This record gives sequence, C-alpha cells and structure tokens, in this order.
Amino acid sequence: MSKQLITEIDGCINIQYRLHTNNPSTEAIINECMNHVQKIEEFNAIVNHYQQSTTTIIKKHYYDILFNEILEKLKKAGLSITINRKDIYDIVDHILIEMNCNNKNILPKKHKFLFIDLFAGIGGFRLSAQQAGGHCVFSSEWDSFAKKTYETNFMELPFGDITKTSKFIPKNYDLLCAGFPCQPFSYAGLKHGFDETRGTLFFDILQILEDTKPKMFLLENVKGLKSHDGGKTLETIEKSLRHLGYTIKWKIINSYDFGLPQYRERWYCVGFKEKIDFEFPSGNMRGAKLRNIIDLNSNMDNKLKLSESEIERINFHFSSNDNRVQHDNSKYHPNTKKGRHGVFSFQKSDGSLRFHIGDKAKTQIQEAFYTCQDTYAPTIIANRVPKLWDLQRKLSVLEAKRLQGFPDNFIFPVSDNQAYKQLGNSVGIPVVEAIIKKMLKSI
Ligand SMILES: C[S@@+](CC[C@H](N)C(=O)[O-])C[C@H]1O[C@@H](n2cnc3c(N)ncnc32)[C@H](O)[C@@H]1O
Repeated sequence: MSKQLITEIDGCINIQYRLHTNNPSTEAIINECMNHVQKIEEFNAIVNHYQQSTTTIIKKHYYDILFNEILEKLKKAGLSITINRKDIYDIVDHILIEMNCNNKNILPKKHKFLFIDLFAGIGGFRLSAQQAGGHCVFSSEWDSFAKKTYETNFMELPFGDITKTSKFIPKNYDLLCAGFPCQPFSYAGLKHGFDETRGTLFFDILQILEDTKPKMFLLENVKGLKSHDGGKTLETIEKSLRHLGYTIKWKIINSYDFGLPQYRERWYCVGFKEKIDFEFPSGNMRGAKLRNIIDLNSNMDNKLKLSESEIERINFHFSSNDNRVQHDNSKYHPNTKKGRHGVFSFQKSDGSLRFHIGDKAKTQIQEAFYTCQDTYAPTIIANRVPKLWDLQRKLSVLEAKRLQGFPDNFIFPVSDNQAYKQLGNSVGIPVVEAIIKKMLKSI
C-alpha cells in the first residue's frame, strides 16, 4: 500500500506517493501518465472543455478535474511518483499536443455570460446563446451521432449521460439551457420539489439547479407538455422549480413568429433567481415563405423526389375540378379505415395540400400533408421531413437547416437521415436567441 503525503509548497499541492522507486523525471511521469489517461472516462470531453474555456475559473475547474482523474488513475496503477501541479500542467499540455487539438478555441475571449448546454443535441441552444454573447462552459449529450455533429461544429465533445456526468459541471455560470425529453412523473402524494420527479431527467435538471444555483435557466419542450398527463406534469414542473426559489414564466412560442417559414410551436420556460419582471419577445415577424429558403440546385440527382404513387395522387388532385377530391380506394381492404371511409384530398387556402381519410368531420384523419413554396412548412420533427407538392420533393438538408435558422455552413458529418432527425430535435435559432437576449436585458 502506498503512503500519501500531501504538503503545500509555494501554493502548489505536492503529492508524494512513497513506494519503492526513486522520483522519476517529469518526462517519465508524462510517459507513464499517457499510458493511463486515455482510460479516464469522459477524458476527451474533459480535455475539450478545458481547452475551450476562456475564463481562468472555468479553466481551473477542468484542470482540477483532469488533475484529480489523472491522480486517481496513477493511484489505481500503484505508481510511485512525486507529482505537483507544475508537472500536471506539463502533462495537460503534452496531452493537448498529443491529441493534436491545440488552439482549437475559436470563440472570442469576450463574453457577456456563461452558460451550460444540457440535452445538447446538435447545439441549437449553444448557437443561439453564443449569438447572444454567451460562452458555453459545459455540454452534455449521449447520442453518438448528435455528439459527432456537435463536436464538428463547436470543436468540443459533449460529456455523455447527464445522470452520470453532472458532477463535471462548474459552479460559476449564469444560464442553464435544456431542451429535455418529456416524461411522466409519479405523484407520491402531492409533495413539493424533488420527490415527484425522481427517476426522470427533469429531476437531474432540478438537482443541477439546486447544486449550482445559476442566475437563470431556459427550458424547452414540446407544446404537448402543457396538457401532458392532464396538466399534472406541468404542474409538478412549475411547483418544483418555484420550490428551488426561482421566479418562472412559460409560454408557447411559434418559430413562424420569428421569421422562419415553419409552424413550430414549442413550450419555453424561463427562470430567474431574483424576482424579475420578464416578458417573452413577441416576434411579430410572420409571413416568411418556403420560397425564401428553397435551394433550386438541391435536387440535381433527384434523390429528394417524392415516390411515384405520391406524385400520381398529387397530379390526380390537380386534374380534378372538385374542391375535395375523392381518390381510388379500391386497393385498400374494405375492413381498413381507408377502404371503409375512402381517401380525399383538399387544398387549403394557403396552398398546402392535405390528404385525409374519410370525408365526414368525424372520420377525417390526416394521412399526408404537402406544403408548397408560397407558404410555411409544418413542424420538422425527428422522423418527418416536410414535403412540397409544387416541387414534388422533400426539403433538402440545406433547406431543413434554414428552416430552423441554422447557418448554411453548419456541418453534418452524418447521413442525411441523421441530419434530418437531428434538425427535427433541435430548436429555432432566432427564437432562442431572442428569448436569451430578452432575459439578459431583464437582469
Ligand atoms: C429534444 S432533444 C434536444 C436537442 C437540442 N436542443 C438541440 O438543439 O439539438 C433531447 C436530447 O437529449 C438527449 N438525451 C436524452 N437523454 C439524455 C441523457 N440521459 N444524457 C444526455 N443526453 C440525453 C437526446 O439524445 C436528445 O439529443
């Protein structure tokens, strides 16, 4: 067993493990460390976050984590060394050079606030918050494809599963951002705070808020959160956030009001540690059309083209003079809804084309929806890419980026299907940016 001596020398912690060998040189320590550091869980994320930090406090935070993780590994390996902070600095520098990731920090050193990016996806919150003058000091995302896209664009690998990595979050930041998955809560009596949320990812957000006490938070979720579980989910969320001492306000906001040609309604909730009067930005920028974001070169290879059967029924609709067109349903079994009630199409006043099952109010079930260049797109979600009847194709990845307000130079190092999914999970950039700017003005 090693005996550990910890002494303060000139402000440096000098940790000595007395074992059987002499003190090795710094170079030997570095070599030894390099054999072990790669085994550190979340090693790449720690190094990336260390390197991306532009403030001394945050840099020290990740430096300390790296320092402790390295020591832990050396201890586990039973190594006999004398090691101090200076050596660890050398080791960290060496690691950065080895990883060929020096000078990756592309952010301006000046920032207005620090934020953390939870359930980060591809970094929609990060992009918006950066555009509002923020500097990200922690990110977490567990999906490997989303992490790849995030790392490519922000030069930072997010930490993994938040239920295991929240211990790495620094304390000194101003804003917590999270577009969290919606899960039902159990109602163990009607208590306040954590009890009802335990076991859900929202509980992890609460715990992080309690541990790190940021000035503000911004949460995002689907519109359906409002009525989820008969309104009980939202009630619990509001109650538990207030229980932590936050003044909160939420609103359903539509991206279409913020200049995007997409009808995307989402639940946004802001919270402030201080009692603050806050009004959500109103947007007032309705009217964007898909025509503004269409890239006419997108479908050169025809890979975005609708299927032949879709094109056939769209053409059939426009060849008829009827307002509501009945389509041939003989291919459907009479016992199916389509067979029983028939399939109809109808062009709405904004130009979009809707296919539905049944013609009576009661039987009408939307079956397909095609938008067109003269109007907006329906909400892009993970497994649904908007389709246009007038171009007879779905949107390209470039157009889907524009639909969410991402810049054209945002890179997707993944398949197109993954890119659509990631964009569908993300947020409307101008919406989040406007909310954060308004939050900053309020404090
Ligand atoms: C609705 S998406 C948020 C997307 C993000 N706002 C963006 O701009 O791309 C929720 C994300 O949470 C991630 N997630 C779910 N559970 C997680 C966990 N335990 N730890 C980390 N990330 C998680 C999912 O992989 C998904 O990317």
